[in-house]
Amino acid sequence: MKAARYLATVVMMSGLAACSPQDPTRLKGGDELYDYYCRSCHQDTAVGAYLEQAVRAPEGLRPHEIVLMIRHGYRFDHPPVHLPQLTPEQADAIARYVQTLKQVRAE
Ligand code: HEC
Repeated sequence: MKAARYLATVVMMSGLAACSPQDPTRLKGGDELYDYYCRSCHQDTAVGAYLEQAVRAPEGLRPHEIVLMIRHGYRFDHPPVHLPQLTPEQADAIARYVQTLKQVRAE
């Protein structure tokens, strides 16, 4: 009886873990992080979901500026985006991903 209840709990817990939405602060890929934290706002503004219409590119925001913006809330003429919950690695991943967007667009 006890064992059966234990088993039921384990099965239920693993089911819950599989269904729960992924914690965004655990995302690793620059593309996933960008999609979660940055894309919708760009989509709603003239800049375009993937920065298609960004005017300052390709110089624009440089990778270290993007990291400062995310980690410490610096502005660089960009609307406030301060995400101190992200690790330095995650901020780097977003910054690198943004560079690939710009390269694609520049061609
Ligand atoms: C509150 C809305 C908003 C959010 C959230 C946001 N942005 Fe932006 N972003 C903008 C607007 C508006 C512009 C266009 C104005 C400008 O060029 O600064 C822009 C422009 C940019 C540009 C283009 C600058 C250029 O011309 O080269 C980059 C790069 C950028 N954002 C990166 C990011 C990153 C990375 C994130 C997520 C960590 C992010 N943004 C989140 C609103 C936002």
